[in-house]
Amino acid sequence: MNRDTSPPAPQLADGFGREVSYLRVSVTDRCNLRCVYCRPVHDFHELNHKDLLSYEEYLRVIRLAAPLGLTKIRLTGGEPLARRGFPDFLARVMDAAPGLDVRLTTNGTLLGPQAKMLASLGLRAVNISLDTLDRESFHRITGMDLYAQARSSIEASLEAGLRVKVNAVAMRGVNDHELPGFIELARTLPLDMRFIEFMPIGGGTTWDESRFWPASEILESARRFADLTPVEPVKGSHGPARMWKIEGGQGRLGVISGLSGHYCLSCNRLRLTCDGKLRPCLYSDKEYRLRPLLRSPRTSDGKLLEVLRRALARKPMGYKLLDERHKRAVCSRAMTAIGG
Ligand code: GTP
Ligand code: 5AD
Ligand code: SF4
Repeated sequence: MNRDTSPPAPQLADGFGREVSYLRVSVTDRCNLRCVYCRPVHDFHELNHKDLLSYEEYLRVIRLAAPLGLTKIRLTGGEPLARRGFPDFLARVMDAAPGLDVRLTTNGTLLGPQAKMLASLGLRAVNISLDTLDRESFHRITGMDLYAQARSSIEASLEAGLRVKVNAVAMRGVNDHELPGFIELARTLPLDMRFIEFMPIGGGTTWDESRFWPASEILESARRFADLTPVEPVKGSHGPARMWKIEGGQGRLGVISGLSGHYCLSCNRLRLTCDGKLRPCLYSDKEYRLRPLLRSPRTSDGKLLEVLRRALARKPMGYKLLDERHKRAVCSRAMTAIGG
């Protein structure tokens, strides 16, 4: 019998022994929205197309990292559906990393008409960003009058058989009064409704401590409108969200407390930015350049792996940076160029 006796490929782990199994890939810094919490309100310079990794370059990194213990890949942006050829890229990612859980984070505005087609390519889950259930407020937050398109993508995705998580950035004085409406959404539809604490990522956003609406308060208020039962985290999932079942409802409610709590001790994430840099921690601007290596004909896979392992060896505990700098922006790269 022909048995493969070669040792299993070594897993990806960082200097603190955290195993890294989740790669977040940002395919563009461009977006058809201008969310005030995500990018500098003035003077955001988008990258030139030639500075973005090509789909082929992403695929090389994915093929290299996938066998090393990755279980999940999230494709994000900017707005990933705004980059030309994205569906074809998604199909190629599925091929390059068979068996991996490949997901998409999107603002939803371009998703509705494509949801069925994306599901037919093998996509199983989408995270849709939606911070308000009011058209005018949507226009104010995102700079665009595209509420109807974003909102209808939820039903379109559910109808296409996709699992849906809705992300709302929690902003005091902006969407806190809409909590009952969001709870109703999660009561009537089978989705995860998650409030993400507003984080001071990148300069020039509308971040301000006065807008910070902490997870503890969101929960306290939510209990006035719904009977909530905590959901045990799935073993080994390491996700940042804490979830509650809404009694008598179809969906669940959750919070992601990036500021008031942190999940750094069990963080399993590595990010690949759209300009080809490995970013080991959301909060740290320390990045490792892959693009010149990917563009040099002399670069072996071994060399790329060496950079990957070096980046991971130095993956920091992000909460320490927050402790030092959270009154200002914790890092300088804008969220739209990190992808969450
Ligand atoms: P799933 O659990 O796979 O659905 O993914 P997710 O919740 O990580 O994905 P999503 O793109 O919806 O991210 C939600 C938000 O959680 C991100 O935008 C961040 O705000 C926050 N988040 C995700 N990963 C990290 C992390 O490593 N550190 C911190 N501080 N926040 C994170
Ligand atoms: N704080 C918290 N979440 C943010 N997102 C974008 N900017 C911020 C911020 N400053 C969210 C988006 C999206 C996810 C990827 O990140 O709304 O749902
Ligand atoms: Fe675009 Fe999403 Fe950022 Fe809004 S949060 S500007 S939709 S990338």
